[in-house]
Amino acid sequence: MVDVILGLQWGDEGKGKIVDYFAADYDVIARFQGGPNAGHTLYVGPDNRKIVLHQIPSGVFHQGTVNLIGNGVVLDPVTLKKEAATVAQFGVDIKKNLFISERAHLILPTHRALDKAAELSKGEEKIGSTLKGIGPAYMDKTGRNGLRVGDLLQKNFTTSYIRLRLKHQKLLDNFNFNEDISAWEEEFFEAIEFLKELNIVNGEYFINQKIAAGKRVLAEGAQGSMLDIDFGTFPFVTSSNTISAGVCNGLGVAPQKIREVIGVSKAYCTRVGGGPFPTELENETGELLRKTGNEFGATTGRPRRCGWMDLVALEFACMLNGVTQLVITKADVLDAFEELNICTGYRVNGKVTNEVPFQMNQMKIDPVYESFPGWNMESAKLKDARQLPAEMKSYIDFINRKLKVNVRYISNGPGRDQIIKIPQ
Ligand code: GDP
Ligand code: IMO
Ligand code: MG
Repeated sequence: MVDVILGLQWGDEGKGKIVDYFAADYDVIARFQGGPNAGHTLYVGPDNRKIVLHQIPSGVFHQGTVNLIGNGVVLDPVTLKKEAATVAQFGVDIKKNLFISERAHLILPTHRALDKAAELSKGEEKIGSTLKGIGPAYMDKTGRNGLRVGDLLQKNFTTSYIRLRLKHQKLLDNFNFNEDISAWEEEFFEAIEFLKELNIVNGEYFINQKIAAGKRVLAEGAQGSMLDIDFGTFPFVTSSNTISAGVCNGLGVAPQKIREVIGVSKAYCTRVGGGPFPTELENETGELLRKTGNEFGATTGRPRRCGWMDLVALEFACMLNGVTQLVITKADVLDAFEELNICTGYRVNGKVTNEVPFQMNQMKIDPVYESFPGWNMESAKLKDARQLPAEMKSYIDFINRKLKVNVRYISNGPGRDQIIKIPQ
């Protein structure tokens, strides 16, 4: 069976840490969508060194696991090569424990250039893309032009590359984009030589054989449900299905194989890049959340926009994903707040709704809040659910009741061991 860990907000919920925590109980960890736009932070090794993973699944530091980059991922060989060198410093040899689907699409240097050109052309309306080439690579997938990892092993790869590059050049000319990308191309061709030495497999057979052999599989989401291409705040979204349905087409597993869907949410909310964010706090409270939570993008370093927890969006995400368990992260960040708010409804044109509307970006949404007293204590030191302050328990109880899904874990610090299991 396959369990899934995914983000329920606009990304950066702390999925990497949670996957790393659970990975010890699994045999296979698989990424099913997204690409190097993801930045998953882990603290590993005896001296708790910080690592940010972009392409490699977050189970890679557990000796007993193998890791799969599934067909639904878009893969930048350059990022992968750099990341391989980083994890090698910790004794991890990805030639042994990483497998890559031959069906995963490649991110080419021109995809990155097109991403940049498209964003520049949008001006004020820009998405705030990570500029990693994600949108253009997925466009070439659905447009049936893209090159896949398996194509690298074909003799005519260079010809196919040149043909696609010429198409891209015409688009770049239309954008009047004339930056020199020859250095990127040089890196790319070096990196594909490295990629060819890795375990390139038929991912769908690989994973189904593991499942048939009774191996435990964990699918790791990237981005978050509100960035899903279909259900997110379009057009301010990423270009893949980030919800649990993405596991089926991103790995090649049937829906009935999915067991637990573990949804991760911060105890508040953040978003990086453009787009609607009803509970955003553009004031001192938002500043304090950013500072205390160290809310700066793991991939781009941009300051993250911060606000209160949004139960309208979370309930929507639980519905779409079929969430069976919740993990609330960064509870410790709220330690110093006298009063906390949770959004329970959106007021639009004087009417309150509990549903996520179509095109939130084109309407004025006033969040309806329920207030809670803060816990005013250092929760990061706590190790056991019995020690949790009463105020945190009521905050969590409220979430359980509203979402009708229980919080099973509270993460109270970035460290591997800073997580508290809530008895049910
Ligand atoms: P991901 O993309 O969902 O894996 O999340 P990121 O790594 O982009 O961002 C989460 C950030 O919060 C990272 O810097 C983590 O180290 C940190 N983090 C994760 N869980 C906690 C927590 O419970 N408390 C605190 N203070 N930081 C956390
Ligand atoms: P993880 O896995 C937060 C955002 C970008 C931008 C939009 C589109 O670390 O949670 P893209 O590069 O996909 O074209 O950008 O989506 N975005 C993320 N925000 N966390 C991420 O990943 C993100 N990946 C993309 O900021 O608004
Ligand atoms: Mg991140």
